[in-house]
Amino acid sequence: MPRTPLIAGNWKMNTTLAEAEQLATATVRAAADLLDREVMIAPPFTALAQVADTLHDSTVILAAQNICWAEKGAFTGEISPPMLKELGGTMAIVGHSERRHVFGESDALINRRVAGAMENQLVPILCVGETLEERESQRTTAVLEQQIRACLAEITVTDPAGLVLAYEPVWAIGTGKTATPEQAQEIHAFIRKLLTAMFEKDIASQIRILYGGSVVPDNVDALMGQEDVDGALVGGAALQADSFERIIHFNS
Ligand code: 13P
Repeated sequence: MPRTPLIAGNWKMNTTLAEAEQLATATVRAAADLLDREVMIAPPFTALAQVADTLHDSTVILAAQNICWAEKGAFTGEISPPMLKELGGTMAIVGHSERRHVFGESDALINRRVAGAMENQLVPILCVGETLEERESQRTTAVLEQQIRACLAEITVTDPAGLVLAYEPVWAIGTGKTATPEQAQEIHAFIRKLLTAMFEKDIASQIRILYGGSVVPDNVDALMGQEDVDGALVGGAALQADSFERIIHFNS
């Protein structure tokens, strides 16, 4: 069974409410005629409720940029799965490189986020990726294996649609340096093989693996043309309506 491509926009800490409204409206319009792929956007927490209204009755999926495992309580700065679900959100980015490197989130903490999302029927998009130094010292696959095994420790996957991975090399995020399609494919194939060792083959073969890191209109087609690249996690280029429209209309 072919995997349905997923193009995801991560708005990071950007957009006023007016900008969010405009961008969400443009995304709804751009995605309206696309039946063979999924489109997701992750606005900042402050814009989630408003964007949820704009996405109502559209095909565009609403996601949070992070999610806590607990339902409620003393977790300053966090939002819970029920809070996101109340707005109609169905996915959450977890373990983003900026959470790991700027805010010090560990694999163990990210594992709790993955588990909490899945227990609440939210689809986590688990991000992994190596730094430039790790790549240059030939540690890329070892680092990715460590991140994936630790972040998915004790996680059971019965429905492959319930988990998404995103390979985002840290050196490619916001730098304009994209992994070549061949580099992306090589790592995605490695991740697929690792998932096959961790889960049942039928499940592993259906889990989507997105590529992220300086995806732009000019490189999306070649990246999406790779066998194991099942989508894109887009930062900067998702903040411009015209470039995100071109990206979601990729031809592979
Ligand atoms: P850029 O597309 O801006 O490189 O960001 C990628 C990213 O971090 C998406 O989550």
